[in-house]
Amino acid sequence: MIIAVDGPTASGKGTIAKALAKHFGLPHLDTGLLYRAVGYQVSLYDGDPDDPAEALAATRFADELLGHPELRSEATGGLASRVSVHPGVRKALLERQQAFAGQPGGAVLDGRDIGTVIAPNADVKLFVTASVEARAQRRWQEMRDRGESHTLLEIEEDLRRRDERDRNRTAAPLVVPDDAYVLDTTALDKDASIAAAIDAVLEAT
Ligand code: C5P
Repeated sequence: MIIAVDGPTASGKGTIAKALAKHFGLPHLDTGLLYRAVGYQVSLYDGDPDDPAEALAATRFADELLGHPELRSEATGGLASRVSVHPGVRKALLERQQAFAGQPGGAVLDGRDIGTVIAPNADVKLFVTASVEARAQRRWQEMRDRGESHTLLEIEEDLRRRDERDRNRTAAPLVVPDDAYVLDTTALDKDASIAAAIDAVLEAT
């Protein structure tokens, strides 16, 4: 069983994907981490994330980078969003994601283009969303727990910028897949979001 989980930044899709993987006993890939690793790798060499060739070269990052705590920072998220617009970067990361999705037994993948590009034949497609205010509040709390200080307004502006970039890029923009179940988590806490996602998967299979 392949479960595709897409949605904007801080919608809760990562938490939901992880919980689904645990519940259904499937391996999980957070594909945002791959783009974050590319963005971080560019910054390590003082490169330009908007330059397609420099960003493409950074797709040969060392796998150890995937566990680096800096990958989760707000700054790296911004870099990831910039390198992810380049079609060459997306293509370089495609095979790895499709190989993960194609494992015998299946997998859960979360990102922006799982149900549309990476695994269009996924058995279940979830599109997780929430209001920008709710997402900003969650991201603010998360950053505070990590010891990063940003104002709520800064976070909200950054989310709007990233949403716009993800939705308007030509290569694999963030869209709701036709056959997706849309889960709005604005008014749901973590446990209720997970329970709703599990129900949606059971209903779809
Ligand atoms: O999900 P996360 O915030 O970690 O993703 C970081 C950035 O990577 C996103 O803002 C998005 O631009 C990009 N991304 C993408 N396609 C994916 C996953 C992430 O373009 N499948």
